[in-house]
Amino acid sequence: MMLKTFSLALLAALAVNIEADAASAPRRVKKKTARKTVIAPVKAAPDSLFFYSPGERKGMRLAIRTGNGQWTDGTQLFSSDYGPWREEKRMFTPFVKKLSNGSYAAVFTVNPQAPCFAVAWSDDLITWRPQDYPLMTARGCLAPVIREDGNNRYTVLYKTPDGRYRQTVTTDNFRHFSPDAPATAAEYEAAAGRPDVITIGKEKFTGNAFQTDSATIARAKSYFAYTEKSKRGNAEKLSDDATRFAALGPSVNATVTIDGRSQKAISDKLVGIFFEDISYAADGGLYAEMVQNRDFEYSSHDRKEWTATTAWKSDGGDIRISTDGSLSKNNPHYALLGAGSLTNEGWDGMAVKSGAAYDFSFYVRHISKKRKTFTVSLTDGDKVIATATIKTKGDAGTWQQYTAVLTPTADAAKATLTVSSTDKTDAGLDMISLFPRDTFHGRKNGLRKDLAQTLADLKPKFVRFPGGCMSHGGGISNMYRWVNSVGPLQDRKPDRNIWNYHQTLGLGFYEYFQFCEDIGAEPLPVLAAGVPCQNSFADSRGYAGQQGGIDMADMPAYIDELCNLIDWANGDPATNKWAKMRADAGHPAPFNLKYIGIGNEDLISTTFEERCKMICEAIRKRHPEIIICGTVGPFHYPSSDYLEGWKFANENRKSIDMVDEHYYESVGWFLNNQHYYDNYDRKAAKVYLGEWAAKVGRGGLDCALVEAAHLCNIERNADIVAMTSYAPLLSKNGHSNWSPDLIYYDNTSIVKTPSYETQRLFSVNAGDKYIDTRVSVADSAASNRVAASVVKDSKTGRTWLRITNILPRQLDVTLSLKDLPLTGQTLSWEGFSGKPGDRSVKVEKGTYDVRQDAALTITLPPYTFRVIEL
Ligand code: AHR
Repeated sequence: MMLKTFSLALLAALAVNIEADAASAPRRVKKKTARKTVIAPVKAAPDSLFFYSPGERKGMRLAIRTGNGQWTDGTQLFSSDYGPWREEKRMFTPFVKKLSNGSYAAVFTVNPQAPCFAVAWSDDLITWRPQDYPLMTARGCLAPVIREDGNNRYTVLYKTPDGRYRQTVTTDNFRHFSPDAPATAAEYEAAAGRPDVITIGKEKFTGNAFQTDSATIARAKSYFAYTEKSKRGNAEKLSDDATRFAALGPSVNATVTIDGRSQKAISDKLVGIFFEDISYAADGGLYAEMVQNRDFEYSSHDRKEWTATTAWKSDGGDIRISTDGSLSKNNPHYALLGAGSLTNEGWDGMAVKSGAAYDFSFYVRHISKKRKTFTVSLTDGDKVIATATIKTKGDAGTWQQYTAVLTPTADAAKATLTVSSTDKTDAGLDMISLFPRDTFHGRKNGLRKDLAQTLADLKPKFVRFPGGCMSHGGGISNMYRWVNSVGPLQDRKPDRNIWNYHQTLGLGFYEYFQFCEDIGAEPLPVLAAGVPCQNSFADSRGYAGQQGGIDMADMPAYIDELCNLIDWANGDPATNKWAKMRADAGHPAPFNLKYIGIGNEDLISTTFEERCKMICEAIRKRHPEIIICGTVGPFHYPSSDYLEGWKFANENRKSIDMVDEHYYESVGWFLNNQHYYDNYDRKAAKVYLGEWAAKVGRGGLDCALVEAAHLCNIERNADIVAMTSYAPLLSKNGHSNWSPDLIYYDNTSIVKTPSYETQRLFSVNAGDKYIDTRVSVADSAASNRVAASVVKDSKTGRTWLRITNILPRQLDVTLSLKDLPLTGQTLSWEGFSGKPGDRSVKVEKGTYDVRQDAALTITLPPYTFRVIEL
């Protein structure tokens, strides 16, 4: 039922976006009766469809033929979603079968050695269910084909690299498959039939052709038209504006009508931040630890060329690493030092300030009974700028922590830290650490103050953490397990960072929650839905992508782990052992966790759905007070994960309150999708737009302006869009995994992008009421370049108009206010202007002088965003 409601809502949304194409919009409808289709020879068929793949990375395409005319190529229907991006996402020997119930099923080989094939199906030709990759016994499931057995039973037959034939049966719409069993060549050949070879343009392609009817052809055609139109819209760029708007006069007129009588409650948590350790955001970034590889746990598992001694050097030849009697089982490696030194290069050096205090600490293990004296120093080039002496004591074999304070006598941007000793006797050293005393809010094991303050200045209403892809991880063994990120630092379990470096987990859940509390934001932890990232590398079985998810036998323990987090955050230390852990760490009061995210833009496969459902239902049952946020894949409408994710969320509405949408899109997409949320089903789950950004190079004014327009459109829909967070948040210069980002930085400087200012202007001037705002632009060619919204904070009564002018002309705006008295004759504004392509903007403040008894007019320079207090 919900599905239907939602499909209709989508259709309505599409009607706004693509007008006449709406009737053909991709949608999922349940077939009530099975239709019988006679598969006739293609040559005689008047109207035909042809499914084919022009290359292993080019996906499955659809071509059509009407009458006895030529074949016309249409569009890509789907492509392989198997495994990591560069190495996989390939499609070999695709085979499509039109089933007697009118739907279509496709199977293909993902690579010559994977223990699975790919399967997808569609009941409307256009929308294909996200792919499943059923696990088979063979390493290499080659050239799979489908046989229809009747009674909704289908057999997939495939060949193996060593020349055998295997088969597996599905009876539930290609979701689950029986254990595979031998098949014969004859069975295989009978199912495979003869492929069709069709000429499109001048090229011949092999694939599967079917006779169809004119209605299906019409649907395919309008889908082709829709994708073409979307492509054109997505390609709209501000740099083409001089030509595009050549005919516009020197200014453009618009009217913004604001109706104080028409108000609705909207989310008061609309703008938050999304923190992920990507691009050195945590280690080497927000986490104030200045020593890189403090635990000697770097390895080639993190990055091919890394070892336990990366970022360290010694004056006495090779650094000796031992695992004998380690400090913690989670941190097995440590360095041995006799007479000599160990120098750490920090994260691109260590930036220190003259006179400031830096807290040094390390663990020492005496190998013999002999005590040792260490000198710890900060050096800038050849100059020692801080030094301290540590004399150890203690028994052989035991680890003991020692501390010292270093106070540099000069500023340095790239200092290094040296630990040295002249005593020949060996000692083990581990967790060698240096923190500025002056962290954000003075926290121990804290955050870099200037960066954390830059985040706090956004006044985010919530913080999502720890990712992103970091949350679900690169493979089952790399999923972020919150429990590994709390407790003494040496016992936390470092791991490979999916972004090709190392995560110490020094910035762990305790620190995330504490940061949220420090800045008055709601914590929103997002944890894996029992499946890793669909882009994961192959495991030891050769099984890539979601790798079949956490084994069902292990799911109860995994679910307990997620529920334990809620107890850890909110429970009573007197009665709950998890809550006691929190109290022991220094926070007896609850953290008041209200939200939990399950899954991160996962492939909405059967593997995902089964695990996500189990998790959400269990959390709902054990912690009904928690708002559960699901996920609808990595892309917006009409991607298959989005459609299937929404369908799944609607079917599981009892345990899914909100879904996490993600999209990184072109400027053109944002300009042409301003009504994206207008027709969403108001009764369905709420939306958390958890990752989004306009994507042009390293960002800039163009992105910031369309993001402002999008936020205006979101505010209009903030009765259903409950939360949003731009992504990614942080990027360290020289270590970027992604672009654009909201904030760029190095050890001494921080650059706030124009997009940062957009986020800030919305967030610091946030409301909880939306006041009906209508924009009318005199020149219709310019109508998608002006967006506005008005919100009111009912606690303070303050009301703000946000308005964008994304035109190369001045915008003259008449404000038509209904039942909305102004607070005075001077309206103050804050905002920015620029030229397309500008990488930075200057935020300015100003005022408009208005008279309430006359027509209210304001002007906006070209390419401007302003927030005006009414
Ligand atoms: O924000 C960067 C990445 O984008 C996130 O890790 C992932 O969820 C998305 O693909």
